[in-house]
Amino acid sequence: MSQPTAPAPAQPVRLGTPLSPGATRVLLLGAGELGKEVIIALQRLGIEVIAADRYPNAPGHQVAHRAHVLNMADPAALRALIDKERPHLVVPEIEAIATQVLLQVEAEGLATVIPSARAAHLTMNREGIRRLAAEELGLPTSTYRFADSLAEVEAAVDAVGLPCLIKPVMSSSGKGQSRVDRREDLAKAWEYANAGGRVSLGRVIVEGFVDFDYEITQLTVRARNADGSIGTHFCEPIGHVQVQGDYVESWQPQPMSAAALAASRDYAGKVTASLGGLGIFGVELFVRGDRVWFSEVSPRPHDTGLVTLASQWQSEFELHARALLGLPVDAGLRNPGASRVIYGGVEAAGIVFDGVDAALRIEGTELRLFGKPESFVKRRMGVALARGADVAQARNRATAAAAAVRPGKAD
Ligand SMILES: Nc1ncnc2c1ncn2[C@@H]1O[C@H](COP(=O)(O)OP(=O)(O)OP(=O)(O)O)[C@@H](O)[C@H]1O
Ligand SMILES: [Mg+2]
Repeated sequence: MSQPTAPAPAQPVRLGTPLSPGATRVLLLGAGELGKEVIIALQRLGIEVIAADRYPNAPGHQVAHRAHVLNMADPAALRALIDKERPHLVVPEIEAIATQVLLQVEAEGLATVIPSARAAHLTMNREGIRRLAAEELGLPTSTYRFADSLAEVEAAVDAVGLPCLIKPVMSSSGKGQSRVDRREDLAKAWEYANAGGRVSLGRVIVEGFVDFDYEITQLTVRARNADGSIGTHFCEPIGHVQVQGDYVESWQPQPMSAAALAASRDYAGKVTASLGGLGIFGVELFVRGDRVWFSEVSPRPHDTGLVTLASQWQSEFELHARALLGLPVDAGLRNPGASRVIYGGVEAAGIVFDGVDAALRIEGTELRLFGKPESFVKRRMGVALARGADVAQARNRATAAAAAVRPGKAD
């Protein structure tokens, strides 16, 4: 496998003035709550930011210089946007992107894709990243098989055993994913996966269940050193709780044995080096005792990393912004912290939030309300953040603050 080449050294770094001919232009593909924070970090450095999403008034649209609405999985629409805006850097924030366009744009030297077009391409499909991690890099993962029909799913289960997880190869946030404990439930899981995939490829991964003690996100930053080479920086591990494939709570640092931490960083270092480029990666790992399994990686800020807004000197968003511009980073922890998701709880447009004052009266707390135009019961509308003397105190504060915020229909 050829090592991907890093973007041409941007040494020394020179940044322009936004909305002038010398502007440094960055295009965010996806402008949700994570993109919004990246944009704010870029804005602070005087970058001209263009935000794209599939619906109007997405969170990041509201803080960018220009906003576009398009289906980023449509190659022609994506190419037209890049040709129109001529960004220096293209920063994917979501998985569902026509990555063949990113590969072309990079090959033509039209723009630099963060961290690399290959990283975006491989990680949008579970098969690409799993084969890279397990088969090329030799990292421990759950046992797995790919299957294209119910018959193949049955055969896969003979190999990986029960319980297992069935996931569409093209999906995220737990969509179309189910745990199967009994053979008679396989047909249901297969149908559910086909309905929940991003595109109905009809292909799934069947994964053996890993009975982990806890799971972490190892945020890993690839940033330029003073000599132009790329250095790898590790944040403190983030622990989190997932409910149906969706994160509800995270904290930092997650206590770990020295051996498990060393293995996590070894795997994170290897997979991010292979994907290449500059920026932050969220490496998802399962841990039992000293044993660690690689699960997946996002070549972009990770939702569980929202906690870093309250726990690090430089949040994952600021780290990403700095790294992609070729600037130095500090991945250090400032204090223990926690985050707790605030769901919409209602189906309505233009909702209101009560209890924000009560939430912020809890010591050490902060809120992010994302400004999403429409709420669903299980849509993430905001997050409560807290610092603490230790993780337990931070988690209690974040949980109390999230509970104090009450989203509801406008009168
Ligand atoms: N093989 C496995 N064994 C045990 N638990 C698993 C396994 N695979 C996934 N899980 C659980 O399900 C969660 C979601 O799985 P995964 O990260 O693969 O899905 P996803 O749709 O990519 O989610 P997201 O986009 O939110 O990261 C994991 O964080 C973990 O809690
Ligand atoms: Mg995941």
